[in-house]
Order: sequence, then C-alpha cells, then structure tokens
Amino acid sequence: MAGTILSGMRPTGRLHLGNYFGALENWVRLQDQYNCYFFVADWHALTTGYDSTEVIIPNTYEMVADFLAAGLDPEKCAIFRQSDVKEHAELHLLMSMITPLSWLERCPTYKDMIQQLSNKDINSYGFLGYPALMSCDILMYKADAVPVGEDQLPHLEFTREMVRRFNHLYGPVFPEPKALMTEAKVLPGTDGRKMSKSYNNTIALADDPDTVRTKVMSMITDASRIKKTDPGHPDICSVYAYHKVFNPEQVPEITEQCKGGCIGCVQCKKALAAKISEYLTPIYERRQAIVADKGYIDDVLEAGRIKAAARAAATMDDVRSAMHFK
Ligand code: TRP
Ligand code: SF4
Repeated sequence: MAGTILSGMRPTGRLHLGNYFGALENWVRLQDQYNCYFFVADWHALTTGYDSTEVIIPNTYEMVADFLAAGLDPEKCAIFRQSDVKEHAELHLLMSMITPLSWLERCPTYKDMIQQLSNKDINSYGFLGYPALMSCDILMYKADAVPVGEDQLPHLEFTREMVRRFNHLYGPVFPEPKALMTEAKVLPGTDGRKMSKSYNNTIALADDPDTVRTKVMSMITDASRIKKTDPGHPDICSVYAYHKVFNPEQVPEITEQCKGGCIGCVQCKKALAAKISEYLTPIYERRQAIVADKGYIDDVLEAGRIKAAARAAATMDDVRSAMHFK
C-alpha cells in the first residue's frame, strides 16, 4: 500500500451527483491503492448546524448507504463516524492550545461562510476553530495525502502549518499531508446553476430510475433552440455537460448534430437519460439491498470504528509522549 489516505464528508443526507463526481467516485478508486480512512464528519456538522442536531444521525445513515452503494468496500477501507473516535476531541483540545488565532481568522473559508450564512449566528468558538478540528482528523491517522476539492485547499495548507508548529515544539510526530486534487468533473444542476440541495436542482445518486428520467427531461438546454433545425450552442447546455461525463464516446457526434441543427433536444435528453440510467441503476439496486439489510450499516460503522480507533490510539500515544503527558 502506497501510504495512508484520509477524507471525510459532513453528513448532509443523500448525496447528489455533484458530491459523487466531486469526491466519492475518487474515493472508490483510491481504496484499491492506499490504506484508506473515510469518515462522516458529524462533529463538523455542528459548526453550522448546532441547532438541528436531530438530523445528524439520520443523515449519517443516508450518506453511508450512498458510500456503500457507490462501491466503498468496508473490507478495503475504514468507514467510520468522527464522533465514534473520541480521540479527535482530545487532539483538538491539545492542538487548540498551539493554534494561533490569526491563522484561524485569516482562513478564507471562514470569511466566506460568515458572509454566506449572514442570516444565522455562527460566530462561535467552534466555528472559528473548524480548520483546527479538520487538521486533527487528518493528523490522527498520520495521513500522507488527503483527496480534497479546491475549496478545501486552504484547510490543507493550514494543516501543514500545524504540523510544522507541533513538530517544532514537541518533536517529529506528524508527517505533512499532501493534497490529492481530484480532477473535477463538473455537473451543473438541472436548472443550469451549481448543483445544490438549497436550489432544489439535484439528481441524487440514489434517485430511482423513473425520477432520474423525469429530471433529465426537465433539464434546461440552450434556450435559443426553438426548432430542431436551430443551430445549438452545446457549451451553454447542461444536458451537454452531462453527456461529457456519462456518454463521452458520443460527444463528438452530439456536438456536430447540435451545432448543425440535426438533433432535437428531446431526443438528445432521451439518449442521456438512457446512459445515466445504465450507470446509476446498479448503484440504486445495491442501495436498496443495503438498506433492506437491517443492522448492516451499524456493522460497517462498528468495524470502521475498530480500525480507526486502533490507529488513533497509537497516534495519541505518540502525542502524549511528545507532550510529556506520559
Ligand atoms: N471540511 C470538509 C467539508 O466540509 C469535511 C472534512 C472534515 C474533511 N474533516 C476532514 C475532509 C478531513 C478531509 C479531511 O467537506
Ligand atoms: Fe443541449 Fe442536446 Fe439540445 Fe444541443 S441538442 S442544446 S446539446 S440538449
């Protein structure tokens, strides 16, 4: 195994195709190449969702069902919940003592989120410290690399700075984790905007095949095409963006036909719906089987907890020794 990888997602419930192509698909590939730890960042959910904690557990189960349906294999990687490994809290406390406030305050995601969520009071100690908690998640497993999207890069840089600071103060305990950038396959939402639950424009990874077809048929295309013979502009069409991901072989043909006004949007959408369905139906069926098997997800999370806890215990031994707590 070429090193250790860790990554996590907040429990947002069912994943959509943006989440899948942005991260999960890559995790499934990585589990064959690395020693992988994938976790549900349920404590992180509190940083912005402290007032709706009742959704965290149901959302966790929905998300883990998607992880498994997409092909994460509990025999190959550890799948666990952050809150099941209490060492994350201990390391976070210790790290908080050496985390300069200025590093947290200058974090670009901090400023962005405060602005974005201006209607909600998230100006808390925990929210400010969020990058420190994320660093601890990574350091706990002495991860060599972390698959992240571009938005999380500042947090990874923060983690690397924390490593240098810790190792300088207490001795060389942690490796500096590298970012493993995912090649971005961007799928817009069905209305052409960014895919997001708050816009109600998602296709869920586990939507049933009929729902997928209905959503595809309702997608926004090039608005200037009224008749089939109108020349189209595929680059501004969401359906086209999906063809690139689900139907790459036929993209040259579709480009030509669309630009030349020889294919209607309805036909183009039907072809896409068939391709998506070919891809998603096995995932949908696997998920049905997973949720029908009562207790299976609990078993997976327990097995993951055991694997993660062993590694976390070893790291905390090193940390406590380095800091003269034993
Ligand atoms: N911050 C990540 C997000 O919001 C989730 C996360 C928490 C994470 N801890 C992590 C990702 C550690 C990678 C590594 O999506
Ligand atoms: Fe989009 Fe296809 Fe219509 Fe062209 S033909 S505008 S690619 S849906």
